[in-house]
Amino acid sequence: MNQSLTIRRPDDWHLHLRDGELLRAVLPHTAAHFARAIIMPNLVPPVVTGADAAAYRDRIMAALPEGMVFEPLMTLYLTEETDPEDVAAAQASGLVKAVKLYPAGATTNSASGVTDFDRVTGVLEKMADIGLPLCTHGEVTDPSVDIFDREAVFIDRVLDPIRKRHPGLRVVMEHITTSDAVDYVREGNENLAATITTHHLVINRNHILAGGIRPHYYCLPVAKRERHRLALRAAATSGNARFFLGTDSAPHTDANKLLPCGCAGCFTAPNTLSILAEVFEQEGALDQLEGFTSINGPHFYRLPVNEERVALTRTPPSFPDHIETEEGPVTLFDPQMPLNWSL
Ligand code: NCD
Ligand code: ZN
Repeated sequence: MNQSLTIRRPDDWHLHLRDGELLRAVLPHTAAHFARAIIMPNLVPPVVTGADAAAYRDRIMAALPEGMVFEPLMTLYLTEETDPEDVAAAQASGLVKAVKLYPAGATTNSASGVTDFDRVTGVLEKMADIGLPLCTHGEVTDPSVDIFDREAVFIDRVLDPIRKRHPGLRVVMEHITTSDAVDYVREGNENLAATITTHHLVINRNHILAGGIRPHYYCLPVAKRERHRLALRAAATSGNARFFLGTDSAPHTDANKLLPCGCAGCFTAPNTLSILAEVFEQEGALDQLEGFTSINGPHFYRLPVNEERVALTRTPPSFPDHIETEEGPVTLFDPQMPLNWSL
């Protein structure tokens, strides 16, 4: 039995850092373990222009505690008014590493997202030309589509047509939750990849709904049936380089989670790597962990891998059940299983 495991320092390819006091409270938990993260732009108001991204990057760096090293990889929030030239300039300056597509109304703070996909054709063309990845929140918002089907329908109605229209466009399907998405990535070419969250490898929809409603397990896309969770575990541990970690750690205060209409999001930054080590060990695939957390992501984003190594040791870690912030407590994702690996 392995007692320790040394891997390249991980990166997080989908992260919500928020702003202000919440940013200050959650950032150290990511910076403690991850070298870089793709920073989601769904602030209020959203991070739309290169100038917005530069200002947000400065606020993140100002919130980073002395002595910690962390590189935020910025993204732009795609709107129907996004200017292709602004996107190209933001990439050329090295600031922006992806553009995020939120169908309008799909999730937290997505009201400024895209309704008419024809209106973003010019931006997508430019992105295909310059090799800038599009990160997709892959759910349709059509109220007549069942929430558990929204990812599969998005692939058919939105994503596949976009990819056929822009074959050179590089796409990351974010936080996939279904075997349909896993199959679509497997069948795709080198321009298509997907991130998988920690929590979707651990919970299925029963965790949210059986025996009482558990708001801390509610996130978007919502966790699906067990067979989908198993497909995600198989994909993450398969060694296929087009699947990699995007935690989608999405902190909300307990006050905002525990409402009659509570916010979507699981906060996993502090315990993600301990949970992943457990999941990969359960799957007999500890040797694939480094690829998933530290190699496949930079490879797709055409960035160097981290040279620094981190050691996981077989020591049961201890995590608080919540962290305190100036805005109130934020509960950690509870994997409901003993953890044996510490960083
Ligand atoms: C995210 C958030 O809270 O910003 N919530 C979530 O459930 N994942 C938004 C998102 O990525 O959908
Ligand atoms: Zn997210």
